[in-house]
Amino acid sequence: MGYEDIYNGWKADPEGFWMEAAKGIDWVKPPSKALFADKAPFYEWFNDAEVNTCFNAVDRHVNAGHGDRVAIIYDSPITGAKSETTFGELLDQVARLGGALQARGVGKGDRVIIYMPMVPEALVAMLACARIGAIHSVVFGGFAANELATRIDDATPKAIIAGSCGVEPGRVVAYKPLLDGAIELAIHKPDFCVILQRDMETASLREGYDFEWNAFQADAPLAECVAVKGNDPVYVLYTSGTTGQPKGVIRPTAGHLVALNWTMKNVYDIEPGEVFWAASDVGWVVGHSYICYAPLIQGSTTIVFEGKPVGTPDAGTFWRVIEEHNVKALFTAPTAFRAIKRVDPKGELLKNYDLSCMKTLFLAGERADPDTIHWAEDHLGIPVIDHWWQTETGWAIAANPMGIEHLPVKVGSPSVAMPGYDVQILDDAGHQLPAGELGAIVVKLPLPPGTLPTLWNADDRYLSSYLSAFDGFYETGDAGYVDEDGYLYIMARTDDVINVAGHRLSTGGMEEVLAGHPDVAECAVIGVADKLKGQVPLGFLCLNSGAGRDAADVVAECVRLMREKIGPVAAFKLAVVVDRLPKTRSGKILRGTMVSIADGKTYKMPATIDDPVILDEIAEALSQLGYPG
Ligand code: COA
Ligand code: AMP
Repeated sequence: MGYEDIYNGWKADPEGFWMEAAKGIDWVKPPSKALFADKAPFYEWFNDAEVNTCFNAVDRHVNAGHGDRVAIIYDSPITGAKSETTFGELLDQVARLGGALQARGVGKGDRVIIYMPMVPEALVAMLACARIGAIHSVVFGGFAANELATRIDDATPKAIIAGSCGVEPGRVVAYKPLLDGAIELAIHKPDFCVILQRDMETASLREGYDFEWNAFQADAPLAECVAVKGNDPVYVLYTSGTTGQPKGVIRPTAGHLVALNWTMKNVYDIEPGEVFWAASDVGWVVGHSYICYAPLIQGSTTIVFEGKPVGTPDAGTFWRVIEEHNVKALFTAPTAFRAIKRVDPKGELLKNYDLSCMKTLFLAGERADPDTIHWAEDHLGIPVIDHWWQTETGWAIAANPMGIEHLPVKVGSPSVAMPGYDVQILDDAGHQLPAGELGAIVVKLPLPPGTLPTLWNADDRYLSSYLSAFDGFYETGDAGYVDEDGYLYIMARTDDVINVAGHRLSTGGMEEVLAGHPDVAECAVIGVADKLKGQVPLGFLCLNSGAGRDAADVVAECVRLMREKIGPVAAFKLAVVVDRLPKTRSGKILRGTMVSIADGKTYKMPATIDDPVILDEIAEALSQLGYPG
């Protein structure tokens, strides 16, 4: 069956489609039906089932005789470390850590924050939590103490599992001081911490509160898998919204298992036992779904890569990893390829490697620009597949389903809607737009299994953020259009979210930080186009009158403040002091117009603008920073 038959088959009988997909999962108690709509618009999938995520990702493969198959390949060009963990070894590790957590009082429904670098123990920690029914929340290592504290207060974890450090090219990032700082800042205090000591940095431990990873579990009993209900959360992952308060996206256990398992063959064309590499970080949704869960649930091999596409040690690192570990498909963000292309434009380093094992390159996380796609196609000689999704969905909304049918690629489009997603383009009044017309991209409710049922502790915010704009639809926050063949084009965000090197960041959150500077009276942050990172943030600062400060000093302080409050991942390095911000007569800052000026795009003078002259001042300030570039 081709894509169209499968998609139409789902549309005709969604219940039948998902119950069939559910056969790929080992249930403690199988679901009697797929969709539970009694609490609509809070939909639940497979809710009367009982199941365990870790059992499906680990135990069942060992039980099926695949204990010797490699589950995790760890490759760290930054530290030189490499290792392999079989499913049998992984079972022992997750059962032991799970048992130790249980012995310290962590149980079903309790939260555990994981703040770890790209080491296999990060996956062990996630799976150990899932094993005992605890809900993990992984926090990306590039976030500062303040961001970690916000998540501690929202998730109220019983425990935190952290690494002593992360390793960035040229520097060791000590995590423990950040962790201690976050606990200090947070109102909620976790009961204890477990610290993985790495060779590069030994964290100081507080007696009776911080436990060293190995000692913590040395004598622990092995934990059995704890069955949870279908809609119980397996994890909460925080993502950026319009404000500095991140949204806790809940991942429901059963739908997550069913959907991810379905995608491995159908979207990525991977069979159990093959090697799948998602070059991302466990702190992001790509890392959750495709470094940790999906490959392991399917019984394939995943790669934990602690390095960068360039500079660790060179722009051939990706090719080395692919050849050495027999990678069948690589999934990364376009920015990684832009980084490689910039350093090695002719692809000279590719000639040193045999990449015949690699069949497909998948890109997601940000818009895949045609130059990057063509460069990858020309140099790799394999299909380059853009696909579109978000933290909220956990798996592809639109893709070219390589395991079903390799549809013609249209560069600039992540192809077509996946089964489960009825994607529509609406105008502001909620009317469906014809092919080719730009509008809000929405998905008809219910969203499919595995997507967010609501936000952690924030049902109202879930409704107001996603369901209130268009009755009966989930608002993706992206704008775009569909062509006559049903191919989607994702053009821009409709909110204050920007995408920096594939990392999702909130300009609203950054403005809150800048507003906290004592000399800043008013500010705005916009995302401007960047050749490497897709977008980078740029701040406009209006200073308090009489502050008497040197503009350059305030800018430098603001850059430091952002790094301290949000973290290096914000990549906030550009700011400029201006007298006034352009606004509408009702006082709304015209950020979109400023973006157009910075990117050198033509724009219409907003009819409601208060004082058009301010736009000239903004253009002048931007030109001093070299924009448009
Ligand atoms: N812990 C601590 N700091 C981190 C970090 C982590 N896990 N990840 C990134 N940072 C730091 C970086 O060191 C950098 O610090 P600096 O300002 O001192 O240089 C800063 O955060 C910004 O990081 P980034 O935007 O990633 O820029 P970069 O210059 O380090 O790397 C790329 C640029 C394109 C090479 C890199 O972004 C990349 O490999 N991207 C791949 C795509 C990807 O992983 N996307 C995730 C979603 S799929
Ligand atoms: P995140 O939640 O971090 O995965 O970010 C999701 C957002 O990234 C989406 O809402 C889009 O704005 C953007 N995005 C992800 N994938 C793509 C893609 N293939 N093309 C264009 N934008 C994308």
